[in-house]
Amino acid sequence: MKLWEGRFEKPAAKSLEEFNDSLPFDKELWQADIKGSLAHSQMLYECGIIGENDFTLISNGLNAIAGDISEGKLQIEGAEDIHSFIENELTKRIGEAGKKLHTARSRNDQVATDFRIYAMWAHKTLAEKLKTLVGSLLVKANEGIKLIMPGYTHLRKAQPMCAGHFFNAYAEMFLRDLERIAQSEKRVAVCPLGSGALAGTSYPINRFMTAEKLGFLKPCENSLDGVSDRDFAAEYLFDCSLIMAHLSRLCEDIILYSAEEFGYFEISDEYSTGSSIMPQKKNPDIPELIRGKTGRVYGHLMGLLTTIKGIPLAYNKDLQEDKEGLFDAKKQVENCVSVMAELLLNISFKRQNMFKAAGGDFCCATDVADYLAKKGIPFRTAHAVTGKIVRSCIEKNITLQDMTAEDFKKFSEFFGDDIVEKVKAENCAAARLSYGGASPKSVRENIKSIKKRLNKF
Ligand code: ARG
Repeated sequence: MKLWEGRFEKPAAKSLEEFNDSLPFDKELWQADIKGSLAHSQMLYECGIIGENDFTLISNGLNAIAGDISEGKLQIEGAEDIHSFIENELTKRIGEAGKKLHTARSRNDQVATDFRIYAMWAHKTLAEKLKTLVGSLLVKANEGIKLIMPGYTHLRKAQPMCAGHFFNAYAEMFLRDLERIAQSEKRVAVCPLGSGALAGTSYPINRFMTAEKLGFLKPCENSLDGVSDRDFAAEYLFDCSLIMAHLSRLCEDIILYSAEEFGYFEISDEYSTGSSIMPQKKNPDIPELIRGKTGRVYGHLMGLLTTIKGIPLAYNKDLQEDKEGLFDAKKQVENCVSVMAELLLNISFKRQNMFKAAGGDFCCATDVADYLAKKGIPFRTAHAVTGKIVRSCIEKNITLQDMTAEDFKKFSEFFGDDIVEKVKAENCAAARLSYGGASPKSVRENIKSIKKRLNKF
């Protein structure tokens, strides 16, 4: 039964139904819809708009429907959308009283409310998962305190660093994501229920009561905006997109560092895949898939932004297109965050390779220049002298660590015997004691601070 068929002489065409119906996907909102209707009916009763008997029938009926759906006794099918499905089912069960549920309500404020309830839950779930992910990164950062690896710029070896620094960098990104989610959550928590179709209602409803019952911070202040605003969904999709960007960068690093050419990380067998033809292969499918899904989540953000850009106030059916992308983004992002939290704990370090790489390829050249500059030579001159040293090493096919103090002294009288110790990778890393730097000491401080900030969420 259509909620709107009274005005029509002929039933809807089959093709119209198939095209128009949203039940196949908006059934995802069933819990939110029942919760919303429970609060609405209680408010109607408390404001004297429906009687006690009707309210009891409605709330018992809604609770029974919820029970039957969760137990798999009631299939969600055969209606235009989730709102019609539940209302029809209620009326089937309790008769006339069921027809009073929609008093002082429109599907426009109903769907906006349901979608926001759903989004509030989504924010909570995502925040929990992000917390676990930051926890995994902290485990790796701790393991990495004693390890040295090269840091990169332009994907060329740049300077040695404590390996924990790498994981803390990602923990910082996901902490910002957590903060963003917490901020977005406040904007989702504004209740449109009671906005009616677009202009509010003439019934003496109490919008503050429903907002509070449903866990919102407040009711929205403009009914036109209330029914047509989907900013919260776009914002959630943006938050998801940025999380995916961070995950995707981490994936790229894991893929590179576990490749033979780098050989710093080893992904455990349980989290790797093989090849059907090349027996030697151990492939990083998990990080590749996460990287791949990033495009899909960005797509959902672009899709919604494009959908909302040209619609006049207030509700238009275009807005039915707001859901599938968000449902999919939620599922993908939650999965990716959880899988990454697990994958990280199944990555081991190839210490020797990391250490060797940190010393090689003139990773410590900045430290040679700094050595001279600290003796009073202008940094630009020290840079040029070190450049010459590097060039001569390349010609002789040796590293900075192969050079003796005498070799260094040939380039500048300011070199002392201690330069040999200074160019060891572990000493270069340990010297980066500046706030937020890559020394093991600074990394320990960073870990402490991340833990403290994490505990606030
Ligand atoms: N299925 C619709 C949606 O998701 C519900 C709201 C319908 N409102 C209307 N005026 N036709 O947007």
